Amino acid sequence: MTVPTTPAAPSAYAGPLKVAQTEYAQRNPRSYEAWQEATLSLPGGGTRSSIFVHPFPLFIERGEGKWVFDLDGHQYQDFVSDFTSGIYGKSNPILKDAITRALDNGLQLGAHTKTESLLASELCARFPSIDLVRFANSGTEANILAISIGLEYTRRKKVVVFKGGYHGSVLSHFGEDDGGDLKVPYDFLVCPYNDISGTRDAIEQHKDDIGVILVEPMLGAGGCHPGTPDFLQGLRDLADEIGAVLIFDEVQTARLSTGGRQKILGITPDMTTLGKFFGGGFAFGAFGGKREIMSLFDARHPQSIAHGSTFNNSPLTMIAGLTAVQKILTQENLDKLNQMGDEFRENVNLHTSQNAIPFSITGLGSINQVHFHPSTDGSQTQSQTQMRKEGLDLFYFKLLEKGYWISQRGLISLNFEMTREDVKAFEKAVIDSIDQVYACRTG
Ligand SMILES: Cc1ncc(COP(=O)(O)O)c(C=O)c1O
Repeated sequence: MTVPTTPAAPSAYAGPLKVAQTEYAQRNPRSYEAWQEATLSLPGGGTRSSIFVHPFPLFIERGEGKWVFDLDGHQYQDFVSDFTSGIYGKSNPILKDAITRALDNGLQLGAHTKTESLLASELCARFPSIDLVRFANSGTEANILAISIGLEYTRRKKVVVFKGGYHGSVLSHFGEDDGGDLKVPYDFLVCPYNDISGTRDAIEQHKDDIGVILVEPMLGAGGCHPGTPDFLQGLRDLADEIGAVLIFDEVQTARLSTGGRQKILGITPDMTTLGKFFGGGFAFGAFGGKREIMSLFDARHPQSIAHGSTFNNSPLTMIAGLTAVQKILTQENLDKLNQMGDEFRENVNLHTSQNAIPFSITGLGSINQVHFHPSTDGSQTQSQTQMRKEGLDLFYFKLLEKGYWISQRGLISLNFEMTREDVKAFEKAVIDSIDQVYACRTG
C-alpha cells in the first residue's frame, strides 16, 4: 500500500529550474518533435532509461571526436562518454581502420577465430584474477553468467550484493526510494557497502548458503563511491572463510589501470566481470576467473556446462576490442586520462570546500559523479530530496548552456579525445555552473 504524502514545497531552485527548462525547450524544437514521435513506438520515447532527460531528451544526430551534434544544430563537448564505455571518443582512426578491415573480412562467421583467442589472452594477461575468460554481449549478461557459474561451482543458492550496487539493468540494488526496477530472481542478500562488520553481521545466519559475493570496487551508477581497500580486502577474507566465490564487477573500474582496480589494490577476486570499452565501441561483456571455475564450460568434457550466445564472438566486436586493447588501452594512456580526472575532481572539490558550497565530486580517475547535498544534517526528507534533485538538474542545464554534455544524474566521464586544456576549460565551466546554482539558494 502506498502511504499518501503531502507534496513538498518548491525549493529556491525550482523557479530557476523552470526557467532553464523553458529555455531548453525553446532552443530544441526539433529534438522535442523527434521525441514526441518516438513516444508513439517506444515507452517514454526511448530504449535506455539511463539516458532519459527530463523534461525531454535531446536527439543526437551524429558525433565526431569529442563532440556530439543535436538535431537543432547545437554541438556539445561530450563528458558523458556513453557512461564510461565511450572512452575512445566518437571517431578514433585506429578503431575505424580496424572495423573497416573487419567488415571486408566478412560478418557473422559463426566459427572460432584467432581474434577471439587473442583478445582472451590479452584479458587473461591483464587481470590478475582471470585464468580463463568467456565473452558475452553486455555487462549485465556477464554478471548474470558469472553469478550463475559461481552458484553452480559452490552448489549454493544465495548471492551477496551491496546497497547502491549496479550490475546491469536487471541487477541493481539502489533501494526502495529509486522507483521500480526489474530483478533476475536470484536469492539476493543486500549488505551495506563499505561496511565489513555490517556485512559480516548480515550474513551471519546464512554463511553456508552463500555461493557468491558480487561487488563493484567502486559503486558506479550508485554515485561513484570508491570501495575502501579494507572493505574489499575484508570481502576477500570473508569469501575465503565461508567458501563463496568473490566476483569483482569491473565493468566500469577496469579503465582505472590495465588490470582494473584489483591490480591497483593488489586484491584478487575469484572472478571478474568486464564490459563496455573492451568491445571497442560495440556491445560487449566478459566474465573470467579461476581455472577450476571457468573450466566448467570446457566443451571437451561430457558434463560441461553450455554457454552459447550468437554474438559472443562477433567478428566486429572481437577485432575492435583486440585493437583497442593492444593499441589504445595502454597503461600510459590510461594513466594520463585518469590523472586528468583526479586533478579535475580535486580542483572542483577545493573550490566548493573553501567556499562552503554543498556540491562535491566523488569518483576515481576519469569516472566522476557530481553531488549536491544542501542538507547539513544528512536528512532524507521529501523536500531535501527534491531540493537536491532540483539543484542538480539546474546544474545540468547550466552546463548544457555552456556547451557541455554530462548525464543528468551528474555522471562525468572523460575520454581519450580530450586534452588537458579541454578538461581545464570544463573544470572552469563546472565551477561557474556550481556558483550559478548556489547563488539561487535564497530564492
Ligand atoms: C558496474 C557495472 N556493471 C554492469 C553494468 C551493465 O553493463 P551493460 O550496460 O553493458 O549491460 C554496468 C553498466 O553501466 C556497470 O556500470
